[in-house]
Amino acid sequence: MPAVSYVNGAYMDHKEAKVNIEDRGYQFADGVYEVFAVINKKIVDYDGHLERLFRSLKEISLDSPIVYDAYLFHIRNLIKKNNIIDGLIYLQISRGVAQRDFKFPKNTKPSIVITARSISMGDYFSKFEKGIKVKITEDLRWKRVDIKTINLLPPVLAKQSAVENGCDEAWMIDSEGYITEGSSSNAWILINNKLITTPANNSILKGITRTSLIKALKKKKIKLIEKRFNIKDIKNANEAFITSATQFVMPVIKVDNNKIGNGKVGKYAHVFKDAYMEAIQLK
Ligand code: PDD
Repeated sequence: MPAVSYVNGAYMDHKEAKVNIEDRGYQFADGVYEVFAVINKKIVDYDGHLERLFRSLKEISLDSPIVYDAYLFHIRNLIKKNNIIDGLIYLQISRGVAQRDFKFPKNTKPSIVITARSISMGDYFSKFEKGIKVKITEDLRWKRVDIKTINLLPPVLAKQSAVENGCDEAWMIDSEGYITEGSSSNAWILINNKLITTPANNSILKGITRTSLIKALKKKKIKLIEKRFNIKDIKNANEAFITSATQFVMPVIKVDNNKIGNGKVGKYAHVFKDAYMEAIQLK
């Protein structure tokens, strides 16, 4: 069965789906996006992701090309049309097609693309048991990374550098030596039973998985401190994690040359993952 995508009002064969060469997403990275996980045919934390999408649109002064309720309709259609049990939905909106010019075009309809693909939860659980390695890289991004824009060259370069060094993720470090977040995830460490993550200000994307995990941990009465952390803190950490819609909660066992704890997935990793999985909203 060929994969089906939604492009500007029509469902089409994914291989045949095209964007215009003058799309501002293509030329200027002038657009925003969201990634939703699907577990057992249901969308994970849908409301949080959709609210963040509308916030991102507002922050770059872009109108939604479709009404609020239409998103759920199209995403559910794609889950059905692509026979997704567990998967990922990618949704992108750009400022549309216009002759190349930096200022906003007048009377241009935003472009929207939604794609769906399957993932294996089995692969996730096996990766979880092994944990991942992280490389520290410089945070080269702009000052509004709280907006989920498609302007992703710095995280692309960070991730590539991590992969070339045998790691799965990059943790980006700011000019003051603090970790901001992962190239496509939020970063967490655990020191002496206290969980630490960077506060959600303009220096990180406020992850929907992060928000869900925080809510879940409150119920479990685990102490969370939202504060910046640096390499010295990482060296003292007993455990470390990343969170994102694609990785859920994923333990980190090594950061650069520093083993975290004993270099194996720690006991809190399971507690956090289970708490998160219990707390997610499915729609
Ligand atoms: N990225 N920080 C950054 C820079 C991210 O790109 C992401 C997600 C997150 C985690 O956000 P959430 O929990 O809402 O997925 C944090 C997605 C998965 C991506 O670009 O593929």
